[in-house]
Amino acid sequence: MSGGRFDDHDFIRACRGRPHQRVPVWFMRQAGRSLPEYRRVRGPGTILDAIADPDRAVEITLQPVRRYGVDAAILFSDIVVPVHAVGFGVQIVPGVGPVVERPFAARADLERLRPLEPDRDTPYVIETVRRLTAELDVPLIGFAGAPFTVASYLIEGGPTRNHHLTKTLMLRDEGLWHDLMGRLTDMAIASLASQVEAGASAVQLFDSWAGALSPDQYRRYVAPHSARVLDAVGAAGVPRIHFGVGAGEMLDQIGAAGAEVVGVDFRVRLDAARARVGPGRALQGNLDPALVLAGPEAAATGARDVLAANSGHPGHVFNLGHGVPPAADPDVLARVVEIVHAEGAVGTG
Ligand code: CP3
Repeated sequence: MSGGRFDDHDFIRACRGRPHQRVPVWFMRQAGRSLPEYRRVRGPGTILDAIADPDRAVEITLQPVRRYGVDAAILFSDIVVPVHAVGFGVQIVPGVGPVVERPFAARADLERLRPLEPDRDTPYVIETVRRLTAELDVPLIGFAGAPFTVASYLIEGGPTRNHHLTKTLMLRDEGLWHDLMGRLTDMAIASLASQVEAGASAVQLFDSWAGALSPDQYRRYVAPHSARVLDAVGAAGVPRIHFGVGAGEMLDQIGAAGAEVVGVDFRVRLDAARARVGPGRALQGNLDPALVLAGPEAAATGARDVLAANSGHPGHVFNLGHGVPPAADPDVLARVVEIVHAEGAVGTG
């Protein structure tokens, strides 16, 4: 598809594996606590309050673009915003993450997940995307949580190391599992469609906890739902990025699910990832965030290693292998951007 305002932008061209000028770079969690300017404007209240306030959400989204000169902005929001907006009862507790008052446990809980109506339920997200689209001179990435990762928050109710409650429900009651995943799939589709309609130039589906599953579990219980999200969004014609953490053993399936771009965490080298994903897909990643914490030299060396492992393939969007840690030094990230822009060579594949 073509006709988008940013179709000739390096980031969009790299997503499509087309030749372009410079290796584009942005960072997952580039906004947020690592930035002093974020801490100044975030205000009291929960992060969900900041997200529901377009003045703050716009400013927070723009901050890393101004500071780093990254090639894309990512909407300031959260993967639990849609389930929160339909009243499931989710809060985000600082230092903990999403916490659910009454976790999902039985069929009756499906009633608590009515369809998302973005105009009514999340008008602030639409407003934020509209204002950003008018202001930005780089593409805006919209996003949603993948059904599995959102389901795991609803079922576990809080942080988990082993996802045992989620897997127990999945394995004991496959019918209920697929019904739950179906509802979350519909919500992700509605949310992403509203963001693209409001002007987002690309979307990312975050399946942060996919690595909790075996490849066979992923195939049976998760892949069809994520593929349905991606398929539905495909009609809008914007590049789709599909990212999982610890998902190295599923990169083939993630590549096959339909997105133009496969996000790779730091555990798999890009050359190995490209072999698993197969041709015709771009890769995004994958500097280990720990190297940013380790300091400017470690980060610079790591960034050069990532570029070398990609060896000039045009389908590469530079990123970290997971989000920017809150303790990251913004100057180190600024240096990484400089290196990627100055030294990243784009070949023809
Ligand atoms: O800059 C960006 O990347 C855009 C904003 C963004 C946030 N959350 C803001 C946020 C994005 C893309 C997310 C996605 C998200 N949220 C994911 C997928 C990405 C990933 O990291 O795997 C997940 C798993 C969540 C759930 C969530 N929300 C967690 C685990 C946390 C951290 C809790 C903590 O305090 O450590 C949140 C809260 C959150 N979302 C913060 C931000 C900036 C920090 C809280 C704050 O500022 O009060």
